[in-house]
This record gives sequence, C-alpha cells and structure tokens, in this order.
Amino acid sequence: MPQQPLDWQRKLEHVFLAEKYYQATNPEWQRMRIDPVTLPNLAIKEVDLRTSFFSNFTANAPIYINAMTGGAPQVKNLNAQLGALAAQLNLPIAVGSMSNYLKYPQNQDVIDSYTVVRKANPQGMVWANLSAKASWQEAQRCIDLIQADALQVHLNPAQELVMAEGHQDFRWQENLRVLCQKIAVPIIIKEVGFGMTGKTVTQLTELGAQVVDVSGVGGTNFAQIENERNPEHDYSYLQDWGWTTLESLLDLPTLPLTSQIWASGGIRTPLDALKSLILGAQAVGLAAPFLHTVQHHDLATAVTIWQTWLQQLQELVGLVGCRQVSELTQVTYQIRA
Ligand code: FNR
Repeated sequence: MPQQPLDWQRKLEHVFLAEKYYQATNPEWQRMRIDPVTLPNLAIKEVDLRTSFFSNFTANAPIYINAMTGGAPQVKNLNAQLGALAAQLNLPIAVGSMSNYLKYPQNQDVIDSYTVVRKANPQGMVWANLSAKASWQEAQRCIDLIQADALQVHLNPAQELVMAEGHQDFRWQENLRVLCQKIAVPIIIKEVGFGMTGKTVTQLTELGAQVVDVSGVGGTNFAQIENERNPEHDYSYLQDWGWTTLESLLDLPTLPLTSQIWASGGIRTPLDALKSLILGAQAVGLAAPFLHTVQHHDLATAVTIWQTWLQQLQELVGLVGCRQVSELTQVTYQIRA
C-alpha cells in the first residue's frame, strides 16, 4: 500500500492520541466553589438555555462542538457523525483545520471529509477552521466550500514547536487584522488548549475578532500528543505549558470588550460549563468529549448522552437561581489557591 502523505497521517494520529489520553473529568475545576443558593425560587422547567450565536442562529444551549478533524479520507465518517450530532442537538459545530483542503484542493476524498459536516447538518451553524497564516483569499475558499457561518482561526504556537513538522514563524498579527477586515462572516480566534492571558484577549479584540475562545489547559493536550508522535523531537518538559481555562477566565479584562469571550479546553461535566459561564464566558466548547462519544456509540445513543448532559446543565443553571444564561455572571463563588 502506498504511504499516505504526512499531513493526512497527522490527522489520524491526532484523533487516535486525543482518544488515548481522554479523561472524563478535569479536577482543576474543583478550585472554583460556587456559593450554594439554598432558595433558588424557580422551577427547573422555567430555565431557558437557548442561546443566539451571531444573531442568525439560536442553539439549544450555549455549547458548541469545537474544531477537531477533516483533511484525510479516513476521518470522513467521524465528521459525518459529528455533523449529525450537532444537527440533532441543534448546536454549532466547527470542522477541523482546513489546511489540507488548501493543500489538496482537487482531492475529492479530502474535500468530502469536510463537506460531509455541512451535508449532515444542512440547516445548522457550521464553522470553518484555519491557521493564522492563511490568507484571506484562502480563508474565503474554505468558507465557500462548506458554506461556513463563521471562521475559526487557531493560534497554536506551542503545538507548532512541539510538532516535528511544525512552523516556527509566528508573525500572525497583521494577517489576523486583514482576515478580520476582509472576511464577511464572524471571526472566532481560538487557542488549541494552552489558554490565553487577559492581555492577549484584549489584543485580539483590538485586531477585530468577534469572538475570542481562550481554549485552555485541562483537557486535550497537544504538547503531549505531538511529543508522542515524535518522541525523538523531545519537548516532553512542555507538557504543562500554558494556562488552564479557569486561569484564563479569571484573568479576563474587567472592562467591557467588543468581542465575546468563549471558553473551551477541559470542559468535561455540565458543572465545568456552568463555572465557565459564571466566569463570563458567553458560550462553552468541547472537543474530545464529543469525539469520545461518537467513537464509542451509535448516533442515537450519542444523541441521548448529550441530551442528558444538556438537561443537567439546565438543572444546574436553575440550581444557582438563574432562568437565563445571561444571569449567571451574578452568581458568586470562591477560588481556592
Ligand atoms: C483539536 N483541536 C483543534 N483546534 C483547531 O482549532 N483546529 C484543529 O484542527 C484542531 N484539531 C483537533 C483535533 C483533535 C482530535 C482534538 C481533540 C482537538 C483543538 C480543539 O478545538 C480544542 O481547542 C482543544 O481540544 C481543547 O478542548 P477539549 O478537547 O479539551 O474539549
């Protein structure tokens, strides 16, 4: 069998290793203790989780399926399942980095591995995903391919360093400004699991991002994944690089921002999501947990698992005395050292 290109193989290894290291809980969130609300004075059925994304889509909850895969023939089925899950749950979904579409624009298998998400979710909200070095023309081609409703741009300098075949030129700032100016759909700038400081969030806001997703440490760890892919290119000491999602959210600027702030990275339970929303995130993303579910269950079971998860989030919002997601920032809490 002919060997497949390295950048197809990488996509498979990411999926395999993310699942290998998948953890169903993230103990970091225990540092945040929500003050109990002993008299919530509402019925759970009054709680409404519905959330509008970019004013043209109302999701069932402030939750999205974050970028994972695409760009290799073997991940097409996985993306079809993720797209169908998003459609049935009525949640937004991002495809994985579309760099392989730019590299293999004529390869039908590569194209299908992305378009299958839109096919499975024709009416829903689907986002394109690219690195910060893509030109705006390249970004537009990716958006057009899947009729994307928004573009996620990932910032992943630590991952690039640990990746043996990674890039080392991180002069992305001007390109980000151009992307934000030229691209008509909203731009979401995200990390890939190393977190961001409040200063970076402010900087990205000033560059014109509509959304900043801090995507912090605590879940999928690309230092660990890339190190395992190429152990001889040894950066194992970087495995605790970055800020957790909790640390990133605690550092958010107190001044009102023109961007929305979203949280992802190590969100595992409905309680983790609740805590992120209390800390000011307006939506919460999960990647590996959705991947884990579709790899272990048929679609109907996966839908049931996530409906239960969303139902529990609704209950928790009620438990802290709120009827709407937007009320959650009034909930008080303590942080343990
Ligand atoms: C990712 N992630 C990711 N992010 C991105 O912007 N572009 C990408 O192509 C990928 N690829 C990718 C593959 C796989 C298999 C996983 C699990 C994740 C990162 C993802 O969107 C998210 O930021 C992190 O995974 C942290 O969230 P979780 O996994 O801890 O919920």
